[in-house]
Amino acid sequence: MAVTTQQLIQWKQQGRPIVALTAWDYAIAQLLDTAGVDLILVGDSMSVVLGYETTLPLTLEEMLHHAKAVRRGVKRALVVVDLPFLTYQESLQQAMHSAGRVLKETGAQAVKLEGGYPAIVDTVARLVQAGIPVMGHVGLTPQSVHQVGLRQQGKTQETAERILNEAIALEQAGVFSIVLEHITADLANLITQKLSIPTIGIGAGTHCDGQVLVTSDVLGLSEKQPPFAKIYTNLRQTIIKAVQDYALEVRERKFP
Ligand code: KIV
Repeated sequence: MAVTTQQLIQWKQQGRPIVALTAWDYAIAQLLDTAGVDLILVGDSMSVVLGYETTLPLTLEEMLHHAKAVRRGVKRALVVVDLPFLTYQESLQQAMHSAGRVLKETGAQAVKLEGGYPAIVDTVARLVQAGIPVMGHVGLTPQSVHQVGLRQQGKTQETAERILNEAIALEQAGVFSIVLEHITADLANLITQKLSIPTIGIGAGTHCDGQVLVTSDVLGLSEKQPPFAKIYTNLRQTIIKAVQDYALEVRERKFP
């Protein structure tokens, strides 16, 4: 059965951990879905595979193109698509237009927005009222890299309180789930206890209701990984070796 936003909330109530990963193309999406991943995020970390230094240059058109491919590869998982930088922050009208295009054109079931400051919370509330499922994202928000860097967030009492309040405000605005990125395990635990929607952690300790990682990190494809990522296999090495073997056989006329 296809995973729904309501199912994720039930899994939190049942204490069943939620498994999430990112995908940016049809092939990887199909593999993740076959492996039983519950939530597939077409994250703006896709910037990495497009060769961008940060998530900022990514456009809505690029996101739509990749999200359509991902959606075609998925039968069971819930597909959530990141709204790229400055495709939702300018105005409610802009956010509605971008989120609407994601749902209408890609077939994905939800969008994700970064931040929990008041203007974003208002936008989230209006999107939800319009019938668009929204996932929140607080803590380290990579679209604000030039303000906050890529450091762990919520280490002081003041910043921890701010992140907790943002998470509560987003829940009240109607998000069905929230990503907690690179915050202390204690803060993630506190937020997870306070909210009735599921928290999905990345670099946020073991107490979240689910975990997400960037798939290219998990598979060992990334040139560099964040400190909290776990590499489960080294596909970079495997691919380089396979290509070198092929090149050698072609040069020595052993293949075909
Ligand atoms: O873009 C992304 O992949 C994300 C995850 C890191 C949560 O937002």
